Amino acid sequence: MTSYRFSSLGPLTGSIRVPGDKSISHRSLMFAGLAVGRSRITGLLEGEDVLATAAAMRAFGAQIARGEDGSWVVDGVGVGSLLEPKQALDMGNSGTSTRLLMGLVASHAITATFTGDASLSGRPMKRVIDPLSLMGASFEATAGGTLPLMLRGASPAVPITYRLPVASAQVKSAVLLAGLNTPGITRLIEPVPTRDHTERMLTGFGAKLEVGEENGETIISIHGEAELRPMDVVVPGDPSSAAFFMVAATLVPGSDLTIMNVGLNPTRAGLLAVLRQMGADIEEVDDREVGGEPVADLRVRHAPLTGVDVDPAIAPAMIDEFPVLFVAAALAAGTTRTSGLEELRVKESDRLAAMAAALTLAGARVEEHEDGLTIHGTGGEALRGTPAGASVATRLDHRIAMSMAVAGLVSEGGVEVDDIAPINTSFPTFMGLLDEAAAA
Ligand code: S3P
Repeated sequence: MTSYRFSSLGPLTGSIRVPGDKSISHRSLMFAGLAVGRSRITGLLEGEDVLATAAAMRAFGAQIARGEDGSWVVDGVGVGSLLEPKQALDMGNSGTSTRLLMGLVASHAITATFTGDASLSGRPMKRVIDPLSLMGASFEATAGGTLPLMLRGASPAVPITYRLPVASAQVKSAVLLAGLNTPGITRLIEPVPTRDHTERMLTGFGAKLEVGEENGETIISIHGEAELRPMDVVVPGDPSSAAFFMVAATLVPGSDLTIMNVGLNPTRAGLLAVLRQMGADIEEVDDREVGGEPVADLRVRHAPLTGVDVDPAIAPAMIDEFPVLFVAAALAAGTTRTSGLEELRVKESDRLAAMAAALTLAGARVEEHEDGLTIHGTGGEALRGTPAGASVATRLDHRIAMSMAVAGLVSEGGVEVDDIAPINTSFPTFMGLLDEAAAA
């Protein structure tokens, strides 16, 4: 464990570039690893989670190498031709790697074992086990449906029509990936839209995938026994990483920071909308498209915030951004209420409990409910900071560490975080960029 004290650094200015999108990076390695031929990936996030996906895809037979120029070259094995890994696949902290790769294995005639760290080993896998079992895969997991888990794929698997019981892009993607090597058409009914990177990128790789609508629900159909063709992928910057700097520059007086190349897919852009509703001054500059995804540079200037009631319907479009939104709310004038956030309890940590405890320790006024937090903001006044000798518990959760780093920037005495090592799972350049923005 590496503890760190985050304190005021003064205004954040200049321009920074956040690393590639984590969700898109995982998918680019997986789909390129399934294509027949050579793909090139530019802007890949080189965080621990994505490297876990790369290692697993190698174990399935793909050849993956990083070039001198920082781009990645992948020679795929082809759908239907995955090799059986010789050893257990260590997924580290990464739920996305685990759940999506389970989908992949489910329709191949191979067996794979998935293990992970203490955080990942506590996260629910039943949500993926259920639909993949219907497709014919078999599982041996703990009684609670958690890792370590052994999965025996079915070949041929059975196509299903599956209504997603939770709003989860990971579950959706697991079924779509299983559908790639399943004869016939696999259908998903998505009552609440979630991030659609899988649908966009699989289409780019040549899969036959249709997205329609019925009674206000999204219907996604994938044609099986697909042959994917290689492609060059450009990964846009991660809005979930940009989020920490969007909130930091908004909160720290005197800030004027441009965050370059931020992905603004509508299924990911909820935080931007909520911060604007609270009074943030965030300008989109040079709206464009990168790798089939909408992107812009974001110019963020300090602005006072006002508390709001966050519409639960926007939650899936900012599901990973609530921890840092709670920090924004702690500095806003008045009260911010959130609800409908049960899913936050099964992320890398229980993010409602973790953030309630962390912000309270730093001097914020927070009430925790079953499905959300209510936060009474300071109206712009700095938080007290963590008391001497006490530190915020990261709970193996990168987003708790980075959110509380932002809180430290707007505290009198600083915020001590017990472990910053988890930041490397998604945002290895975070500490450097913080210094860069403070020194500009
Ligand atoms: C992700 C989906 C979300 C998100 C996670 C990445 C993805 O999880 O929290 O960080 O890449 O599909 P859920 O699908 O469990 O909501």
